[in-house]
Amino acid sequence: MTALDSARALAGVRVLLGVSGGIAAYKGAELVRRLRDAGAQVRVVLTENAARFVTALTFQALSGHPVRTSLWDESAEAAMGHIELARWADEILIAPASADLIARLAQGHADDLLTTLCLASTAPLALAPAMNQQMWAHAATQANLGLLRARGVRVFGPACGDQACGESGVGRLLEAVEIVAELVRARGPREMAGQRVLGSAGPTFEDIDPVRFIGNRSSGRMGFAIAAAAAQAGAEVTLVAGPVHLATPAGVARVDVRSARQMRDAVFAHVADCDVFVSAAAVGDYRPQAVAAQKMKKTGQALHLSLVQNPDILAEVAALPRRPFVVGFAAETEHVETHARDKLERKHLDLIVANQVGANLGFERDDNALLLLWPDGRKELPRADKRELARALLACIAALRTTHGGNRS
Ligand code: PMT
Repeated sequence: MTALDSARALAGVRVLLGVSGGIAAYKGAELVRRLRDAGAQVRVVLTENAARFVTALTFQALSGHPVRTSLWDESAEAAMGHIELARWADEILIAPASADLIARLAQGHADDLLTTLCLASTAPLALAPAMNQQMWAHAATQANLGLLRARGVRVFGPACGDQACGESGVGRLLEAVEIVAELVRARGPREMAGQRVLGSAGPTFEDIDPVRFIGNRSSGRMGFAIAAAAAQAGAEVTLVAGPVHLATPAGVARVDVRSARQMRDAVFAHVADCDVFVSAAAVGDYRPQAVAAQKMKKTGQALHLSLVQNPDILAEVAALPRRPFVVGFAAETEHVETHARDKLERKHLDLIVANQVGANLGFERDDNALLLLWPDGRKELPRADKRELARALLACIAALRTTHGGNRS
């Protein structure tokens, strides 16, 4: 794979890089660079033996994040605990993977941070072994690798050539670019390559005066997860974000807005080019008729705010003569399916994503449960992490675009 081919091929993918003990550990530093060049977010875990060959500081500087070496680091656990790290990863890549580490993984050990993370994570695991050629050829090593392969673990390399120990044979760590290429290949074709996705996320704020506003409880997590998943699938993604405190997913172009009218302008500045529009934002339906120039004072009397209706961005996009595939959301507190199907039909959408919101549901959480409705079908996505739901939603959009003839443009 050339540098050009690998450009952004891992956009937004969260790679947990484990480095085990061996002279090839120094090549892990180059690997961090190449993974980041490909758009991946990288967190590094060194085994105690790896830390004898390389320093955590090198990997911290290259990855931009603190490096973990021990299960028993209280300050690190206070920041991102090991279970959180295991959940964070989309991919676990161990390079170099020593014979000892491979043996411990095969046996299901959890006696250090890296092996514990491997057991605690559902992320796919890939190993790039590096060791002396006799150790590689040993029946024990091959049996361990056989066990791991049978469990779905991918093995990249090793290469053949001169070894640090002075011998020559199979056991050299693949070059960093080759490992990245293997990882990209293992992840399979990027199903949204060449497509343009426009998304919206978060709340809108409608100012009452210079101090107060009308807003809602959307955190933006659902819309950001969709944008991240689309970028990971190879799409070119623009995300119009209301006022939220979330980092921009890798590979996503972000436009920040505050009010519904600003959101409408930003959506319409980008909608002409897009193939799919996903409106996960919780757009305020109303805004104050006038914004007071100064902070409004208490009068001792009831206060009546006069509100006017905001534009319905989703309905306007769906009414365009050359429209993308239009996906709306429906946040409902009751009669979820009935209200959502009504919105689907009234706004002429291709798909609506219904969710129950209210006390501790839908908003401000990492998980959600979704009901997908389209003119002649429905699909339930049971409660799961919003990142997982986003991937399932995109898969459903892709299937519907195929079976229902794509967008209407
Ligand atoms: O952000 P999180 O904390 O992760 O929470 C996720 C979520 C609950 C906000 C999300 O899953 C969700 O349901 N988003 C839509 C919220 C909403 O405004 O729903 P609605 O039923 O009021 O609106 C229906 C659709 O019309 C939505 O796609 C909305 O983006 C769109 N709309 C609404 C009003 C308006 N003036 N313009 C619009 O485009």
